Amino acid sequence: MIVRISDDSLALALGADELAAAFEAAGCTVERTSSWGMHWLEPLVEIEGQGFGPAGPDDVAAILAGTSPLAIGAIEKHPFLRGQQRLTFARAGKTRPLSLADYEATGGWAALRRVRGMTGAEVIAEVMQSGLRGRGGAGFPAGIKWKTVHDAPGTRKYVVCNADEGDSGTFADRMLMEGDPYQLIEGLAIAAHAVGAGHGYIYTRSEYPHAIAKLRAAIDLSREIVAPFVLEVRAGAGAYVCGEETSLLNSIEGKRGIVRAKPPLPALEGLFGCPTVVNNVLTIAAIPHIMAEGGAAEYAALGVDRSLGTKPIQLAGNIRHGGLYETAFGITLRDLVHAIGGGTASGRPVKAVQVGGPLGAYIPPEQFDLPFDYEAYARVDALIGHGGVVVFDDTADMGALARFAMEFCAAESCGKCTPCRIGSTRGVEVIDRLRTREKVLDPVAALPQMHNAPKHARGREADVDLLKDLCETMKFGSLCALGGFAPYPVLSALRYWPEDFRP
Ligand code: NAI
Ligand code: SF4
Repeated sequence: MIVRISDDSLALALGADELAAAFEAAGCTVERTSSWGMHWLEPLVEIEGQGFGPAGPDDVAAILAGTSPLAIGAIEKHPFLRGQQRLTFARAGKTRPLSLADYEATGGWAALRRVRGMTGAEVIAEVMQSGLRGRGGAGFPAGIKWKTVHDAPGTRKYVVCNADEGDSGTFADRMLMEGDPYQLIEGLAIAAHAVGAGHGYIYTRSEYPHAIAKLRAAIDLSREIVAPFVLEVRAGAGAYVCGEETSLLNSIEGKRGIVRAKPPLPALEGLFGCPTVVNNVLTIAAIPHIMAEGGAAEYAALGVDRSLGTKPIQLAGNIRHGGLYETAFGITLRDLVHAIGGGTASGRPVKAVQVGGPLGAYIPPEQFDLPFDYEAYARVDALIGHGGVVVFDDTADMGALARFAMEFCAAESCGKCTPCRIGSTRGVEVIDRLRTREKVLDPVAALPQMHNAPKHARGREADVDLLKDLCETMKFGSLCALGGFAPYPVLSALRYWPEDFRP
């Protein structure tokens, strides 16, 4: 009997290896696959299409006897999967990550073969037609970026995959790298062909050892397929700011991970001063589907307005059914959090969700009808970012979470610009003052009516104004998104939950 169990690191952390060993000891053949992305059911066992989870070694006998209460029925018919439109994650749960046979049998390399008969300009035209925008967070049109690199003068060009997935509540890059590494490699080989690059790098974080190992093994096994394109993996050393494209390039070059001023854009002067495509894992992984025959039009037919195609959304935090949910743009938070995610894991009411990582705004339930769409989020001062949705119940202290955003920014700041380096530390201090001081206690601050009294001396109201001013300065004066976006969680928390900023 063939038993399929994921070797994704989330499943491993929950005991998938021990479970696999128990099935082998019971005489079964175990195949290690990618994860379906239903995290609350991991380790998930699949036998002839039927699922059982979350399972441990003690459940093996009952599963094999057909009496296990962990049975969830046919996996592919599970409501969590049935509602999805999986393109980027089409193979999730279905293939063995390093099996070239599985990859080929599920359409792998077809797009690369097709693209090799096309010019770079033709490939880029189809990427533009698909409407694909950068999935790392900023949503810049991928085709325009590729065209800039393609048209840039120079014989040495690079493609760099930003896999430094640092946002809280995100794991889609990791799942893709661990579960379907050839798809990423194929996407990079296509990008390299399109822009005229010979060399590529995947820059990921050292906290992803399983992804690094899988990628290195996959690169070795597919070397001849993608030749003459050459690909390497580089691991960062744990700095959030190295996810910012210019510090990432510095880090690959062996320099300190500090942000470079733009312009020049990396598309014109990137790695080692050469024109460079820098794209997130999910942007690149969407490419093989888009470049398959008819793929671009199919992709562009999904989504809303200028947010086209599908978005792998990551449901995390205090949620009953956490995991990977890929669907066309336009889905609402209400559907994601309640209908799909099943509400909070604690069973308590939802207080807020944070979308877009530690620098994303906190969104209150009144705004849960907001469609997943770059522009719709921007209109309410929120961001989609990398698509992480972190749920909080009514016990969350939004003032403490706002403080964390500033503290995080202070800890991770590269130090290059003042609004971020100094502003984040001042931000923590102001929030602390607000949360510990009900009324003005000191005599200097008791002089609010004196028109020339220092602003900081006017008490609580002045501190709220000061915090808002500080956030504005950081938003518009910071050199990169770390300092520029830290105000989003702070201002949204202050706007919707002002009571949490009181002692
Ligand atoms: P950005 O808006 O400055 O640039 C977006 C991309 O477009 C960059 O690659 C830039 O070089 C390129 N670009 C801009 N104009 C161009 C042109 N005319 N021609 C060619 N290329 C051009 O945004 P940035 O700073 O790169 O990213 C900010 C985003 O990163 C935020 O929205 C945030 O959501 C996201 N983020 C994601 C994280 C993750 O873990 N995935 C972590 C932290 C932030
Ligand atoms: Fe560095 Fe912060 Fe300025 Fe970005 S905003 S360049 S991380 S100091």
